[in-house]
Amino acid sequence: MEEDKYLLPLYNRLNVAFVKGKKSILYDENGKDYIDFASGVGVNSLGYANKKIVKTIKKQAKRVLHTSNIYHIKPQEKCAKKIVELSNYDMQCFFCNSGSEANESAIKLARKYGNISFDKPKYKIITIKNSFHGRTIATLKATAQEDKHKFFGPYPDGFVYAEDINQAISLIDDSTVAVMLELIQGEGGIFMQDISQIKKLEKTLKEKKLLLIVDEIQTGVYRSGNFLISQYFEIKPDIVTLAKGLATGIPIGVMMTSKKNIFTFGDHGSTFGGNHLSTTVSCKVLNILEEYSNSGILQENIKFFDSYLLYFMNKYPNLFKQKNGHGFMQGLVLKDDTKLNELINSSLKNGLLILKSGKNIIRFLPPLNITKKEIIKGFKRFENSIIETLK
Ligand SMILES: Cc1ncc(COP(=O)(O)O)c(C=O)c1O
Repeated sequence: MEEDKYLLPLYNRLNVAFVKGKKSILYDENGKDYIDFASGVGVNSLGYANKKIVKTIKKQAKRVLHTSNIYHIKPQEKCAKKIVELSNYDMQCFFCNSGSEANESAIKLARKYGNISFDKPKYKIITIKNSFHGRTIATLKATAQEDKHKFFGPYPDGFVYAEDINQAISLIDDSTVAVMLELIQGEGGIFMQDISQIKKLEKTLKEKKLLLIVDEIQTGVYRSGNFLISQYFEIKPDIVTLAKGLATGIPIGVMMTSKKNIFTFGDHGSTFGGNHLSTTVSCKVLNILEEYSNSGILQENIKFFDSYLLYFMNKYPNLFKQKNGHGFMQGLVLKDDTKLNELINSSLKNGLLILKSGKNIIRFLPPLNITKKEIIKGFKRFENSIIETLK
């Protein structure tokens, strides 16, 4: 495409450019509509052109977008309070601009904790096979997918990879300071960890005064049906990271922790992090989602969505072998890897946006306020795409 002439070729883009959206529907340059089961990879939690969000952005733009963290930022204080209250954890927040940055902040905090809390400093962080924690040098190294590490070394030392949670427990040694994980692996196959194993890991870490870091960049902000999936697991992490859905498209990231006395002035910071625009919008998003979740509609629609996935599993046993996931973070595992791109492309042609995860999984991350009508329409298009793929 001529438009790509000045862009580095980093993305394998589908051949479509969207110009506008309404609720959970996007429109391309020719006016064709697409039901969105992808929400910009879990970012557009309230879909498109949400009236309340448009009003909030307009109002804030007329007042002030950014001042810098050298001054007090009232919306940042308000947003942190909301996030902490929704989590029910005794924590404090640091605001940044993306998931990678939130995880980078978590790694720095864990390193400092390891440096100052023990006679012999601890620094190693254990992560889990197929995890995804970001693309900066440290978060890439924390990502336990070694095929992604080629070319970019040398890396910071101190990341150890475990096959699973039991192995993570057995790998803890004198230099380990933390275990960092996703409770559902987003890029790694919508694989959900076992609750009892996670509780065992939490207990082991607490006994040794080591940290549990939960990366909720994809699972957080009601994606799982709960504000945090850590709440569903009934665990108390020491650090939680959030980003994606927090401000329905305005860049934002958060690292929240119960270890309030580790970072001190000058240890960390961010120019854009937590500015007036992102935190005002985030606060509005959180208020809307809290109300939506309390109304019961979120849970009802998750169940409705889920019933379709079960229907497809049962109706097309030659195509799908398993359903993975939880809440509005779901995956259908294909029997044949080669069908993955075919199904994504034929869905696009039929006006439906879906994602992939791993090598053979169709991933569904719809906007959290998707309606039943949109779900029905989207799955009709999905079934047509399945039929075409099986031809
Ligand atoms: C679980 C998880 N962690 C970290 C990241 C990195 O976030 P970002 O792309 O905003 O840096 C992602 C992004 O997909 C993610 O899903």
